[in-house]
Amino acid sequence: MALQKQKRMKKIHQEINNIHTPVLLDEVLEYLDPQLGNSYLDLTAGYGGHAERIIERTKSSEITLVDRDLEAITYLRDKFKSKSCEIIHSDFLAASINLQNANRRYDLILVDLGVSSLHLNEANRGFSFLSDNKLDMRMDQTQELTADYVVNKYNQHKLAQLIKEYGEDPKSQRIARLIIENRPIKSTLQLAQIVKKAWPGYTKTHPATKTFQAIRILVNDELGQLEASLPIWGKLLKPEGRLAVISFHSLEDRMVKNYFKKNASANYDSTMNLLTKNPVIAGKTEIAINPRARSAKLRAVAKIKIKKGGANAYTG
Ligand SMILES: C[S@@+](CC[C@H](N)C(=O)[O-])C[C@H]1O[C@@H](n2cnc3c(N)ncnc32)[C@H](O)[C@@H]1O
Repeated sequence: MALQKQKRMKKIHQEINNIHTPVLLDEVLEYLDPQLGNSYLDLTAGYGGHAERIIERTKSSEITLVDRDLEAITYLRDKFKSKSCEIIHSDFLAASINLQNANRRYDLILVDLGVSSLHLNEANRGFSFLSDNKLDMRMDQTQELTADYVVNKYNQHKLAQLIKEYGEDPKSQRIARLIIENRPIKSTLQLAQIVKKAWPGYTKTHPATKTFQAIRILVNDELGQLEASLPIWGKLLKPEGRLAVISFHSLEDRMVKNYFKKNASANYDSTMNLLTKNPVIAGKTEIAINPRARSAKLRAVAKIKIKKGGANAYTG
């Protein structure tokens, strides 16, 4: 059994080495601008693609890597075993609260939101309907709530609301009714086929994409995590420290944009400088190599350095 698990992990690690491309890598390096000796906190370290390049530049031993996915953590422990990294298995909200309580501060913070390509490619994680599998969609395999529970236990009203709010699908009512009528729904392909009935003849993108996104956001409390964490990230930055956030859908990006705007507006109380007036997006070449980069948006801020004791003293 242990040997089987080891073999599976080895296969996964090889796959990651082959397929994993960190998004907006050059842009992350431009906006975080890592310098020798900088401390670094990566709150969605994944497979360490961004982290590797940043650590190459900082050569610092103050590195904290966080991820809520156990497979990512196992991979990170192996990849960075020669470096003195602190590697934490946790969601980023809990990790950020703990780091703040411990009075930790960083020069550089990166948050690359959402799922990894491995989540989407590994059929048994149930994020994708490109192959048939059980409905799961948990980034953290130890949590209780799964996509199966949402699909088979939520009432019609809750399902419709979820698909409308998090999936932004105008046919949310019809999809919710179809789900209820076709229960029990036991697999990703079955769910995708049911959702497709609400959009007969539609071929542009698969009609189930939005419903899958909605369920995934709910199962992993993606928006709740982001909203509660943003104010803590500002506090975890050292003066002049930089924070970059990459998001993949409009609901996340809006949250980041509004938070940055509020705290980086040119007024008396502002604590940050906005480094990106508009979201930074991937160029055609990157999108051709890595189609997932198409929806990536990067926004970044730097913490203002204000002398302690001044009229608008900001001590972090
Ligand atoms: C897009 S991947 C990050 C890839 C990474 N930047 C790299 O270069 O390898 C997103 C990662 O964030 C993790 N993640 C997403 N939401 C999280 C959360 N709330 N707390 C901790 N990790 C999270 C996922 O498990 C996934 O491994």
